Amino acid sequence: MRTRAWGVLAVMIAPLVVAGCQISEQQGRRTYQANCVQCHGVTGLGDGPFADKLLKPPSDLTVLARNNGGAFPGQYVTDIIDGHTRSEAFSGAMPEFAQTLGGEELQLGPLVDYLASLQR
Ligand code: HEC
Repeated sequence: MRTRAWGVLAVMIAPLVVAGCQISEQQGRRTYQANCVQCHGVTGLGDGPFADKLLKPPSDLTVLARNNGGAFPGQYVTDIIDGHTRSEAFSGAMPEFAQTLGGEELQLGPLVDYLASLQR
């Protein structure tokens, strides 16, 4: 009986967790569309309208996991977006978003979730 109750609870909670992820992804998509599409393109391939005006092409954001041995590098991506950890060689064209996407937990988290969903 006890186990059954937990089972019922799990069935009730699971859709909420899934819905929570979807909301986060939708929010992330909006942040992406407002700040990143110009360079990285609607689908993240690096083919936005500004792409061919830059000295260094915007990265393809759909292969971040593939380039990291199959695991999406969430922390690395967050650090690149907010600008806290970028190598000397990193293009100056991409703005640092720590200020603009301010409440980092609110905006960066969903944005990074959204990027994770673009991986192929
Ligand atoms: C003005 C153009 C521009 C905008 C806007 C821009 N980026 Fe970039 N981004 C670039 C360029 C150029 C690079 C490649 C930099 C390099 O390798 O030196 C890059 C690289 C990256 C990388 C590193 C990818 C890798 O493979 O290491 C990530 C992640 C990224 N951008 C995410 C974003 C996100 C998310 C946004 C929106 C919040 C954004 N960028 C907005 C131009 C832009």
